[in-house]
Amino acid sequence: MTINWSMKEKEEYDKLSVIYDDLYAPTWPRGPNLEGLISYLVTFSGGNNICEVGVGTGNVIGLLYNLGYKNFTGIDLSSKMMEFAKQKVPNLITIEEDLRDTNYSGFDWILSVGSIYNRISNEDKKKLFSKMYNEMDEDALFFVGLRNYTYNYAFETEKITSGKETKAGRFEIEYKHEWISHDCYYGVAYYVDLETNQKFDYTYKTYVISEEDLVKMITDVGFTHINTGRPKDTGYYSNIWVFKKK
Ligand SMILES: C[S@@+](CC[C@H](N)C(=O)[O-])C[C@H]1O[C@@H](n2cnc3c(N)ncnc32)[C@H](O)[C@@H]1O
Repeated sequence: MTINWSMKEKEEYDKLSVIYDDLYAPTWPRGPNLEGLISYLVTFSGGNNICEVGVGTGNVIGLLYNLGYKNFTGIDLSSKMMEFAKQKVPNLITIEEDLRDTNYSGFDWILSVGSIYNRISNEDKKKLFSKMYNEMDEDALFFVGLRNYTYNYAFETEKITSGKETKAGRFEIEYKHEWISHDCYYGVAYYVDLETNQKFDYTYKTYVISEEDLVKMITDVGFTHINTGRPKDTGYYSNIWVFKKK
């Protein structure tokens, strides 16, 4: 049976939405990781009409909203994740769709800062960046953030096949990866909430790409790479590459 990975991702995030913030942002709105990212983003001009793809529970735009940024559109496959985002940004416009189908015109910042593209094949990434280049407003900025783990570490060092960690002092996570090609693996993560004893699992397919190849892919369609934020500036969100059309 062929798996529809977009459908699967939606189902998985709908399921994880109830624990997502306890797991990844237990101290929201405080926390050095998000604060690092936000203090980097606010150094750029604009932000009058912000679109975040893979907006999830809105932890990033929620902080921008608290700082006085006003207009937000969230794109996500998971309506359940976005229900939590609406609690942080009451006037959030939500669109439940695959970011490959999004119309990118009309925004001055497009944020993709939560490793969204690691679920999209490298062929599809090329098509997406080209579509974005054609649709984005002339002066709009495009911010792309990817965790080091996937894009540099896993790609350049020994391929990780399993691991175990405890997050937020509360969730035990065990994961297994099966590499199916040099740049793609299937993964499954098992979560145990040690407070409630609830169990969750999350199945995913990840595509990896090196930093150099990603930046090249985006500049090859016409974008200009104007800045790179490194983890010392951006916290958990690690590298953020910023692009402009001209
Ligand atoms: C790791 S969460 C990141 C959330 C948010 N950006 C943050 O940093 O807190 C990834 C989100 O991307 C969404 N997502 C994954 N693939 C997507 C796609 N192809 N189109 C739209 N949303 C997608 C998931 O449903 C999930 O809510």
